[in-house]
Amino acid sequence: MKRALTLAALVIAGTFTTAASAQTAAKAPDPALVDAYIKSTFGKAPPEWQARIEPDETLKTCNAFHNDVPGAEADKITKRELARVVYPADGKFLGNWKEGAKIANNGRGGQFSDPPGTIAGGNCYACHQMEQKEVSYGTLGPSLTNYGRDRKYDPAEIKNAYTKVYDSQAILACSNMPRFGVNKVLSEQQIKDIVAFLFDPESPINK
Ligand code: HEC
Repeated sequence: MKRALTLAALVIAGTFTTAASAQTAAKAPDPALVDAYIKSTFGKAPPEWQARIEPDETLKTCNAFHNDVPGAEADKITKRELARVVYPADGKFLGNWKEGAKIANNGRGGQFSDPPGTIAGGNCYACHQMEQKEVSYGTLGPSLTNYGRDRKYDPAEIKNAYTKVYDSQAILACSNMPRFGVNKVLSEQQIKDIVAFLFDPESPINK
């Protein structure tokens, strides 16, 4: 709290300086101050989130290159992230598409205000078009309409989709898509259900 107040004071002081000199406004904020502020906002977060304040190797690289990583760094990232993907022990990638449809639509989870035991969703519609009848979706990611049908329900593509959802950066370095499996947002079963939503011929995605 004290830290936050100190920061607020500095921010206000900064505003006056900005008015006085445009040069000051262009100066980058002190990284130590930014870190202290971010830490102060994580006060109520569970321990496993606290650990994520410190960017991992992959995020550090993406940040350093503003996500525009050179080829050699990109290869290191995809290799490192692929090694983190845990594939289902039973070798089955397809769960229940009806459950997957609910998970894709669920934007809950990852908030400090979540009641204990909140089941997180994938919030896929925030970035992707999926089933045809849904009219509300974001466009940061490509449309996933007909995803399985377009890929002829190919088992290699099914495995790829599991990998993508588990750890987007195992496929594309510095992807804007969350790493749902490695960051423990979604469970293995939830990811299987999502993959079924993408690949089951009965799923509305493929109708
Ligand atoms: C914050 C935005 C965001 C969210 C949320 C998100 N994605 Fe993505 N997704 C992207 C972006 C951007 C891409 C394209 C770049 C890439 O491939 O990483 C992408 C790519 C993909 C691809 C690969 C598409 C292809 O070209 O073959 C799949 C599959 C996918 N997302 C599935 C999902 C699913 C399923 C969910 C929900 C569990 C989801 N995404 C949530 C941003 C997002």
